[in-house]
Amino acid sequence: MKILGIETSCDETAAAVIEDGRHIVSNVVATQVEMHAKYGGIVPEIASREHMRALLPVVDSALEQAGMELPELDGVAVTHGPGLAGALLVGVNTAKGLALSHNLPFIGINHLEGHVYAAWLEEGVDPEARPGFPLMCLITSGGHTDLILMEGHGIYKLIGRTRDDAAGEAFDKAARVLGLGFPGGPEIQRVAESAVGLEPDLPRPRIRNSLDFSFSGLKTAVLRRAELKGMYPPPEESELDPAEVSEVANAFQEAIVDSMVLRTMDAIRKYRVNGIILGGGVAANSRLRQKMTEESPVEVIVPRPGLCTDNGAMIGAAAFFSLDRGSAFQWDLDVIPSLRLG
Ligand code: KG4
Ligand code: ZN
Repeated sequence: MKILGIETSCDETAAAVIEDGRHIVSNVVATQVEMHAKYGGIVPEIASREHMRALLPVVDSALEQAGMELPELDGVAVTHGPGLAGALLVGVNTAKGLALSHNLPFIGINHLEGHVYAAWLEEGVDPEARPGFPLMCLITSGGHTDLILMEGHGIYKLIGRTRDDAAGEAFDKAARVLGLGFPGGPEIQRVAESAVGLEPDLPRPRIRNSLDFSFSGLKTAVLRRAELKGMYPPPEESELDPAEVSEVANAFQEAIVDSMVLRTMDAIRKYRVNGIILGGGVAANSRLRQKMTEESPVEVIVPRPGLCTDNGAMIGAAAFFSLDRGSAFQWDLDVIPSLRLG
């Protein structure tokens, strides 16, 4: 079964053809990052406009790379939430039109469920067979930091979430304080690599008797540290010292990675799962991938970085397993910007 997966919830315009929920036949991602970078964050109106311009060409190239025409597909799937309302609308209505014009099954997918199913897309990986359900999913991105217990296909329980900023948002804000570019996550990772590690630790916020996260205290701690060192507000007369920037970036990355790993370990002790799935843009972070794998007593499945950040392949994968559950032909599907999983 070949499904076209479409994703436009934030700043990537993406489409992919996925076979049987596991094999990537084609996968095309057009990023808008340069349009938003000069504003230091995503501008919703620009995102919608760029999706309008880019989506049909992106779909065309996904079909062309797959060597297929629309009528040969078995279904069209699209992210219908959570995300930016205008950005989601472009994806949902375009996908609906494409499906309707060829009488194809049409299905809406929760973006967070997409991030979970990216784990099914690596060759030779089948989390259902090994390590098997139940699985603990940490979905960590620009909009979410959620711990989700997955007991089977489509069976989710949200057991922890951020009380304030998402981890990706905290990366982006810390990067801004340190004079680094947008998006902040890859920039912090890049400069942290050259740190020699003399910087004192930053706090690892933990909420008592809860599996929730909180990152706003850490964000403030980075700001205070930067102020103390005369790095923020940026000095007018001189450039920031790259060695100092990399040390504070490294201290921030260590603290935020530790918070996520510690909470995930608390969660697996409580719920006795067989494995962990890591997903979402922040799961592209090499330190998080390394530390989670080192600390976990159970298997950690983490897709390659390009499948952690937003893409259409994960939507096509999730759709296959949803169609299995019989939820096709959603003609009245609408966008739900605050959709939750579990
Ligand atoms: O999943 P995603 O592509 O979009 C949302 O659904 O939000 O995640 C984007 C977020 C951004 O905040 C970005 O800074 C972060 O993922 N990110 C990273 C890395 N790559 C992307 N954070 C830390 N390290 C990375 N290597
Ligand atoms: Zn995402």
